[in-house]
Amino acid sequence: MTTQFSIGPQRDEVQAHRGASAIAPENTIAAFRAAAEAGAKWVELDVALSADGTLVVIHDDSVDRTSSGKGSLGELTGAEIGALDAGTWFDPRFAGERIPTLAETIVALGELGLSANVEIKQHKHHKSLDQLVRAVQADISKRAANTQIMISSFDPEALKAMHALEPELEMAMLWGRPPEDWAEQLAAIPATTIHMHFKALSIGLLEETTKRGIKVRAWTCNDPVQLVSFWGAGLSGVITDNPKVFLG
Ligand code: G3P
Ligand code: MG
Repeated sequence: MTTQFSIGPQRDEVQAHRGASAIAPENTIAAFRAAAEAGAKWVELDVALSADGTLVVIHDDSVDRTSSGKGSLGELTGAEIGALDAGTWFDPRFAGERIPTLAETIVALGELGLSANVEIKQHKHHKSLDQLVRAVQADISKRAANTQIMISSFDPEALKAMHALEPELEMAMLWGRPPEDWAEQLAAIPATTIHMHFKALSIGLLEETTKRGIKVRAWTCNDPVQLVSFWGAGLSGVITDNPKVFLG
């Protein structure tokens, strides 16, 4: 008789980073569709405000790298951002793909049966944290019954403000490497989860987080071999550009 060991994540432990961004242009509906087609249940996506207060799904504070346009989010309206081509830079097959608003994305997630880790980006052009988190709250309140939402951010103030509005949502603090006083910092938000760079993972940290009931997910890992020793030690998830490699 052979014993079966699980050395990979369960389906709901895999989050497609910016959608399946190895397969389709990041943070577009095509990338979210590709994640669903790869068997993912969760996507991670980045949100920020445009000049006129539209919440858009984009990683950088400018449209330069991921679209046909130029300019910073703080200088462009939601309509101007939405008119750009966000697919051709990745592959001409994706010509016509757009930078979606969070509102449009929430509708698409419902249609695709996906849940989302909404990463709140704090950019220099954002004038009001309250405006930012209230915009997120308004959009996610329209989610479909089959869409779960969690929030992550590198900015603890964004998580605190979001938690005050939506205390039931899972809050994840983003750190490359968690600081020594990670437990105190999480308690001050309060957040229940750490999202950290996979290269900074250690069994010792996972033992400590598990003891305290804190979840840990690792970003951005595209090679399952790197995480094999951590699943049995308490790792709760992976954020990956290529969900296919973790979901088989
Ligand atoms: O959620 C993990 C990851 O998205 C954080 O880094 O820069 O890709 O948003 P970044
Ligand atoms: Mg992100």
